[in-house]
Amino acid sequence: MPTVTSRIGDTLFPIGIATGAAFCNRHTERTELAQNILAGSHTWIMGIRRFGKTSLVSQVALELGRKRNVKVHTESVDLFVVHNITTLDKAIRDAVGRLTAQFVPKRRKAMEALLEIFDAFKPKVTLGSKGISIELFTAEPSAASINEVLLALDRAAEAYGRRAVLILDEFQQIALIDRQHAIEGAIRNVAQRTKATSFVFLGSERTLLQQMFENRKRPLYKLCRRLNVGRIAAEHYHAYFADAAKARWQKQLRDDAAERILEVTDRHPFYVNLLCLELWRHRNPPKPADVTALWDSLLEKERHEIHLALSTLSTNQRAVLAALARRPTSRPTSKEFLAAAGMAASSMNQAVDVLLAKDFLRRDEADVYEVIDPLVKSYLSR
Ligand SMILES: Nc1ncnc2c1ncn2[C@@H]1O[C@H](COP(=O)(O)OP(=O)(O)OP(=O)(O)O)[C@@H](O)[C@H]1O
Ligand SMILES: [Mg+2]
Repeated sequence: MPTVTSRIGDTLFPIGIATGAAFCNRHTERTELAQNILAGSHTWIMGIRRFGKTSLVSQVALELGRKRNVKVHTESVDLFVVHNITTLDKAIRDAVGRLTAQFVPKRRKAMEALLEIFDAFKPKVTLGSKGISIELFTAEPSAASINEVLLALDRAAEAYGRRAVLILDEFQQIALIDRQHAIEGAIRNVAQRTKATSFVFLGSERTLLQQMFENRKRPLYKLCRRLNVGRIAAEHYHAYFADAAKARWQKQLRDDAAERILEVTDRHPFYVNLLCLELWRHRNPPKPADVTALWDSLLEKERHEIHLALSTLSTNQRAVLAALARRPTSRPTSKEFLAAAGMAASSMNQAVDVLLAKDFLRRDEADVYEVIDPLVKSYLSR
């Protein structure tokens, strides 16, 4: 039987969304997002896959929910499985129902006002043991009805003196089901008028989202403040590990072991957790060699996944990725680099563009091209 302390790592280094005790720092990003929401601005969260966008938004939602001076209510909707306008319309309507139910007072007069605001959606209000639930209906799911229901949400929040926050996760899905951008247009229309509602948009397809929010031909262009979610600073991870080691072993974690964790994972939040979750199950704090050994065994275990990911690339693209894994550079079209990769400049540029768009590569602060996934990087540079 594992003891309680041997399971501390499972709580402190989750594979899923991190909040509360599992949430490491991000003080600047949390403050900025909370400020946007309280000021009524809309935000789109930009970041590499699995860098912690959903966790950040969830953590801020928790913190705002605890505020006493302002009443903030958040509801999140995951659009990942939405595949047409009917399912999208329903997902948004249901979220609006749940969000409104959080703040509508149970008094009869208050209910009457609510029924009026949502009149077009034939609201069905049920009082159960868990509180109020509100169901909204529409005869014709469409961009227009999404527009209407969101405007009604804003009127309701304003009427009851609350701030409503609707979080739309995996938002790129909308671009995939709506080639004419009618839904994006409807959302823009609402977002420009809101008085008591803030939207937070995020998703795992960075390139698609960037097109939605940063292409001047698209309806959502310049509608939101952009918030970047990058890596967590090493010093913040060191502080976090120190507390986590005390909680697990009542001992310190060696500095060189902590550094090795950050080195092999490249401070990629998902891989930090994947590795630490396992390390924290050990009886004693790890030494650097333990970290390396565990990383190597992860590499073995994930070999199949890595192959799958790489199989979506062309031979050229794979060769470029491997060359950059071994030798990161800011100038992949330099003579030496091209010679080492055995490639012409035009092919190099093409491959690099695809690798950037597919989030295999990113440019760091010094403009150096780096392989994003640390396991892929380790695999290719062996
Ligand atoms: N601030 C944080 N502190 C500790 N762990 C974190 C933090 N943020 C994210 N993580 C961890 O990183 C991993 C990815 O987090 P999350 O799912 O929030 O990322 P995401 O950017 O929303 O991913 P996706 O692109 O797949 O939607 C999870 O294992 C999570 O626990
Ligand atoms: Mg996410």
